[in-house]
Amino acid sequence: MQERAADVRCSEPGCGAPVDMRQSPIRCVRCSGLLEVVVPPPSIDARSLRALWLDRRRSFDARDASGVWRFRELLPQYHASDIVTLCEGNTPVIEAPRTAGRIGVRRLLFKHLGWNPTGSFKDGGMTVGMTEAKRSGATRVACASTGTTAASMAAYAARAGLPARAYLPKGGVSPAKLAQALDFGAEIVEVDGNFDAALERLTSDPSRGEYFVNSLNPFRLEGQKIAMVELLEQLAWEAPDYVVVPGGNLGNVSSFGKAFEELVSAGLIAKPPRLVVVQAEGANPLVRMWRSGGSALQPIRDPQTEATAIRIGAPASWKKALRALRFTGGVAAEVSEEAIVAAKAAIGREGIGCEPASATTLAAIEQLAADGRIDRDATVVAILTGHALKDPDFIMRHVRENEDRSWNRH
Ligand code: F0G
Repeated sequence: MQERAADVRCSEPGCGAPVDMRQSPIRCVRCSGLLEVVVPPPSIDARSLRALWLDRRRSFDARDASGVWRFRELLPQYHASDIVTLCEGNTPVIEAPRTAGRIGVRRLLFKHLGWNPTGSFKDGGMTVGMTEAKRSGATRVACASTGTTAASMAAYAARAGLPARAYLPKGGVSPAKLAQALDFGAEIVEVDGNFDAALERLTSDPSRGEYFVNSLNPFRLEGQKIAMVELLEQLAWEAPDYVVVPGGNLGNVSSFGKAFEELVSAGLIAKPPRLVVVQAEGANPLVRMWRSGGSALQPIRDPQTEATAIRIGAPASWKKALRALRFTGGVAAEVSEEAIVAAKAAIGREGIGCEPASATTLAAIEQLAADGRIDRDATVVAILTGHALKDPDFIMRHVRENEDRSWNRH
């Protein structure tokens, strides 16, 4: 077994203690801070890196066929044969000129991470998380989830030959996601309460010997950050003005912030795009803190939104998310349930489709453009995190209402 694939340290600025992942797989033993992987800066210059990554698109090596491992100079290092991959990444950027015109921004692009093997952005992280789980000798993996992580974990665990268990909020998960996790052979534990209770249940008893693949696992975030590298390559390394992403447990926006820090320091881009993280009004703890200018997140006890993927009241990665917003000059925004329904219908009418949490992005862009907080001349990228088929019930509930809306008729 490889001794280690990368150094890990505490992410708290005042601490930064080196971490032995065998002893503390989730938090720093010294200060309880979240962990982060330290990837040494690439040893080749930006121009050569770009050429190398592009050249690999002609290769049939399994690592090069993956839209994550093709960029492995920015990842922890593993032997090729140890990598657990389902050819994730390689997701398109789709222009939406009609919607851009309607909402009044110059250029609107959808980066559809829902077009990954299990239908979500989690696959980009899970390929690294599961590879690390195997390298570290894990014998079983587990996560708490609103459903998307569970489906992704289940698939990659099956590929790795590891048993998997998902702790899910009872009654709070789309049946389509549950079906995926079952199809891939995961064991399901339904927890009374919401996601926050499921996460608490997962982490409360380390004696079960489960290797955690939640977004608290810093290796997951390494994989997720690569979506931003792929995006920049697709945009010929011209950073857009804004990247807009839904926020639940806030792992994803944190990983994007880390990507931009590393891309700037490697000279691959001059300036990061501004990150906009979007929460639903009924599950908006980060937005509340951001608005009040506070420095500590107050959890919401009973978060509510029909976008069940982001129905989270105590997001674990809020400090990392804050760092991402500060580094990029970003903002936290919230959108109403009605706006989510309308935006989801509009994305459907583009022939693209997404699950409800993803639609918070368009809802927020529309709102920020209307009140002048997004410049009309801007290039804006909305990150769609999940496939439309993740939550068909939502569509069936709202389709009649959507048909009655006149603004998306032509
Ligand atoms: N979009 C989708 C489709 C999700 O499933 C999630 C989170 C998010 C956005 C938000 O990402 O948590 O990194 O801020 N899903 C987790 C899960 C919580 O368990 O599947 P985040």
